[in-house]
Amino acid sequence: MKTHVALPRRLVTVAGTASVAVLLLATSAFAQASADIQKAVDAAYTKYKGLQEGKNADYIPALARVDPSLFGIAVITADGKVYSAGDLKTEVSIQSISKVFTAARVIQELGLDSIAQQIGVDATGARFNSITAVEVVRTVAGSGAPEMNPLVNAGAISATSMVQGLTKDEIWTKIVTTYNDFAGRPLTVLQDVYKSESDTNQRNQAIGALMLAYGYIKANWQQAVDLYTRQCSIGVNAKDLATMAATLAFGGKNPVTGKQVMDPDKVPGILAIMATAGLYDDSGKWLYRTGLPAKSGVGGGIIAVSPGKFGIAVISPPLDDAGNSVKAQKAIADISNALGGNPYKVQPK
Ligand code: DON
Repeated sequence: MKTHVALPRRLVTVAGTASVAVLLLATSAFAQASADIQKAVDAAYTKYKGLQEGKNADYIPALARVDPSLFGIAVITADGKVYSAGDLKTEVSIQSISKVFTAARVIQELGLDSIAQQIGVDATGARFNSITAVEVVRTVAGSGAPEMNPLVNAGAISATSMVQGLTKDEIWTKIVTTYNDFAGRPLTVLQDVYKSESDTNQRNQAIGALMLAYGYIKANWQQAVDLYTRQCSIGVNAKDLATMAATLAFGGKNPVTGKQVMDPDKVPGILAIMATAGLYDDSGKWLYRTGLPAKSGVGGGIIAVSPGKFGIAVISPPLDDAGNSVKAQKAIADISNALGGNPYKVQPK
């Protein structure tokens, strides 16, 4: 038999008011800023639209042909709301941003230690496609020591080789399904970019062979390089990238589709490698300025994550000397600073 205990009316009202207040307090920390998100996005778009710094990547011929004036910004919050400016539709190749999501797949399948033990999670401080870094790290750390990271080419090709599967098709399906889940829609390969990079990726082939020789890759480095090249050629627009970033911002749950894509306890490992190596040899400068884990790609995209607050992405193809989009860095830094996105910044009470 159920006993119904009636609470005194005043107590019920007090309790109700208190819980509403708690709820308001919990959401107001960011709800307050959310009223200004669109304003911050518009301001950055207007400020940087005409900026003519940097140059499209051209070591992959197809990238040199992309319209350098393409500029799109998207911010996604916990409720899945998209705040945007500029071009949200045009796709560019995801390039190195893919490295984050292949590493996520490996960590999801094999655990956090897998990447740390087989590849490493330290910054190289060198360019993204450095062969010297592979040699230096090996000399300093000794043969086979896992002192690389999965966000530079050497570590990324190795991470791709760690995705489990009996056939190449099975491995590819896993990679692309992971990206689809993070983006919240089916993505496809930009065939012209894939062909262009496949025709010119001899340097990555050399890196793949070297990573096999040094034990980071266990077998079939050619397959790993080809799958890596294909994953880099996947087409994404600014909204796709922001959704991928937002999924990392909210504990591995895609805020647009509601799907739990990755275990929440594995996400901090991904954010850590983005913080230390996401913008290559400029990662320190970037973190110092924004505090945001981020990842760039030579296609012109950058994603950044403000944990618990928002995911943001900007696409603009012209790059600086380190290989990071000039406008994307500036726009993300401005928007995040306007919204209090830096997770290290705490206002004393
Ligand atoms: O392997 C490469 O060189 C390209 N597919 C990706 C490089 C890249 O995006 C580095 N980004 N800043």
